[in-house]
This record gives sequence, structure tokens and C-alpha cells, in this order.
Amino acid sequence: MDADAIVAGLYTEEARHDPNPWYAKLHELGPASALDPEARVYTTVANGFDAVDEVLRDPRFIKVLGPVDKLDHPVLATLSRSMMFSLEPDHGRMRRLFNKIFTPRRVAALESDLLAAIDGLLDRMAELGAGGAEVDFIAEFGYQFPTKVIGLLLELPESDLAWFRERAQRIDRYLDLGGKSAEKLRAADDAVLELTDYYLRLIADRRADPGTDLVSDLVALIDSGDDRLSDTELVANLVVLLNASFVTTMNLLGNGLLPLLARPDLVDRVRADADFASRCVEEILRYDSPVQLLSRVAADDTELAGVPVPKDGAIMVLLGAANRDPRKHTDPDTFDPDRADVGHLSFGGGGYFCLGAALSRLEGRLAFPRLLQRFPDLAIARDPVRSDGLLLRGYGVIPVTTGGRGAA
Ligand code: HEM
Repeated sequence: MDADAIVAGLYTEEARHDPNPWYAKLHELGPASALDPEARVYTTVANGFDAVDEVLRDPRFIKVLGPVDKLDHPVLATLSRSMMFSLEPDHGRMRRLFNKIFTPRRVAALESDLLAAIDGLLDRMAELGAGGAEVDFIAEFGYQFPTKVIGLLLELPESDLAWFRERAQRIDRYLDLGGKSAEKLRAADDAVLELTDYYLRLIADRRADPGTDLVSDLVALIDSGDDRLSDTELVANLVVLLNASFVTTMNLLGNGLLPLLARPDLVDRVRADADFASRCVEEILRYDSPVQLLSRVAADDTELAGVPVPKDGAIMVLLGAANRDPRKHTDPDTFDPDRADVGHLSFGGGGYFCLGAALSRLEGRLAFPRLLQRFPDLAIARDPVRSDGLLLRGYGVIPVTTGGRGAA
């Protein structure tokens, strides 16, 4: 099978369920392959660990957002103003500002609030699971926890969080591979307009009456002089912050639960050993990456792993494949938190490396032990259902039983 046929396979239902057999076939062809540009938008696919790492770090390859002719659409116009989709020097200007406020210290300071949020959700799971009833781990925990965390960071009212999640999902549905229908675009546009209104009000409120939240600190720094960011740019970055943090972290939690519960020896260790829980989080990220692919464009005629890439050629950057590269990882398809070669690219690399990596690592490190301590008999009740995304890979439903111990 040639690279075009394999990449076409990635768009199928079967690959949405499990893209790894397609990734393995790409690895057999080499770390990168040329694609027929007539067949789809990409001229090149990068799948090998080193090739993907190179695309992400090397300034020969630049960020893209989407069709430039659609930039008058609110969703694309807004995203293109955020750091995630900006080029230098704008990217660096925005990223530096966020780095100053979204510090490791701020993340670490959230720990006790995160534990309280986790315990609240586990109480609810215990209630719902009383008497052996099935509980959907995604709906009751994976879906709730990351938005609670954004709620804590921005100090949003609890009652607004469901509203936020729904809008984040509409934007994600449009961004996914194959999601570019007029209907999804309209839904994403509306979501962005509504989020923009909300954030503009929030910024005005925090400017008038500052608190200790992220937005108050960002506004104070911006208004103090050196770090210029317009309110429109700030809104764009807040929209991206919500989107970048919600489904990704939900997928980390869901994608991790399955391989852990399949191995009672690992469950015992996660419960007892915080360092081991951290190793598990890294292996979950490698084994079943919440973000499976990114895109970049060649700034000039160049080559990647010996494959010519034309100027403006779009590269499909397969993080999920890089994380299972047999040239990098021994037995890549085995879930093994003790592996020495746990290195993964799930948070990207280079200048756009995930701003929230430390936060999501902390979320995973706290959530898994707490969940497994609370419900020692937690078990999968029925086959889980994958969500239909490939860009963002995770589960839509994971039915569990919480067991007698840990009940409300
Ligand atoms: C397991 C959870 C997460 C995963 C797997 C993940 C993955 C990623 C990846 C792959 C990128 C690079 C995008 C690119 O190069 O094109 C990225 C960037 C980013 N992430 Fe995350 N992310 C996660 C959680 C979060 C959280 C919790 C936040 C915020 C609180 C966040 C905020 C961001 C932002 C703002 C960027 C853009 C950084 C920049 O442009 O400089 N992410 N993330």
C-alpha cells in the first residue's frame, strides 16, 4: 500500500477506532512520505519520531490555520489572532505574556483546589454508582474536571461551565479532519461570537474590579505597559485556552483509564506511589495521544527525512504515529509505564510547545490515584465508545461500575 492509500485510510471509520495499524504501515515506508497533492491538501506526511520533532522545531516549517479565504469567518479570524495560530514576532509577544502569568507556581498553587474538585466529582460518581449502577466516566469525570480547572483559573461561576464546554465542542468539531462542512462552520462561528461577548465582559469586569484570577493578572500586566496585547487578541487567546485545555485533558483521562484498569498490578502501584502515577501519565500520553495530528507548511522548497517538500507544501504531522515509532520505542504497541524510552511528542515541540503541559500533567497525576484509591473495585462495565475525532482522540463513553467500596 502506498502512502496516499494509507493516509486515505486514516479518514475511515476503522482508523478513527484505531489509527495505529495505519501508522505502522507508514513507518514501514519511512519516517516521512510524499503525498499526491491532487488527492488532498497535504503534500507530505511526517510520521517518524525524529521527522515529526524536526518539523515542529525547525523554522523551515511554519504554522497554518486553514483556508485563508475563510478568514472573514469569526472562528478562523479569532483563532488566527491567538498565539497558537500566529507567526513570529506576534506569537512570541503573546506567548511571553502568558508565560509570565501562567507560571509553574500558579499551576502548583492549584493543587488543593484540584483535589477538592476531584473529590467532589468522585462523590457524585459514588452516588450515581450506588447499588452497582453503571456510571459514564467520561460524562461524570473526564468531561467535568478540565472545565472545572479552567473555571478555577479564570474564577468563573460554576453555573457557566456547561455553557463553556458546549461552545468549545462546537469549535473542535469544525477543526477536526473532515469537519469542514458549512453547518459545522456556522455552529463554530456562533460559538466564537458568544464566547467573545462573554470574555469581553469578563475582561471589562476584571479591569474594573481585579481579583486573583488569570484574566485579572493578564489585564494588569497588559495595562502596565510593556507587554502590548489588544483586548481582541486577549479574547482570542482565552478562546484558544479553553479549547486547547478541555477535550485534550478529557482524552488524557479517558485514554488512560482503559490501559490502567486492564492491569491490576499497575492500579495497585498508581494508588500507592505518586511518582509512578506521573510515569503512567507520560506513558498514557505516548500510548494514546489526545492530539493525534498537527499541520505545518514549508516556508520554501526543502526536504524532510530525504523526501522533497515543495514551498507552501502542507505537512500532515502525525504525533500519534511518532509516539509509536518502532525506531524510537521498543514494542511501541505495549503500554509500559516502566519503559526507559517514554519520550513522546504529545505536547508538540519547539516554540509552540503546549502552554498547559504542566497543568494537564498535574491533573492526571492527581486524578488517577485519587480515583483508584476511592474506588478500589472500579471496573469497566461495557465496551467503551470512541469519540469520532481523529485530530483529538478519545472516548465518548466509558461505562464503569464503582464497586461496593468507596460508595457515597
Ligand atoms: C493532555 C492535555 C493536553 C495536550 C495533549 C495538549 C497538546 C498540545 C499540543 C500538541 C500543542 C501544540 C500545537 C502546535 O504546535 O500546533 C499545544 C499547544 C497549546 N496548548 Fe496544549 N495540550 C493539553 C492541555 C492544555 C491545557 C490544559 C492548556 C491550557 C490551560 C493548553 C494550552 C495550550 C496552548 C495555549 C497552546 C498553544 C501554545 C503556543 O502557541 O505557544 N493545553 N497543546
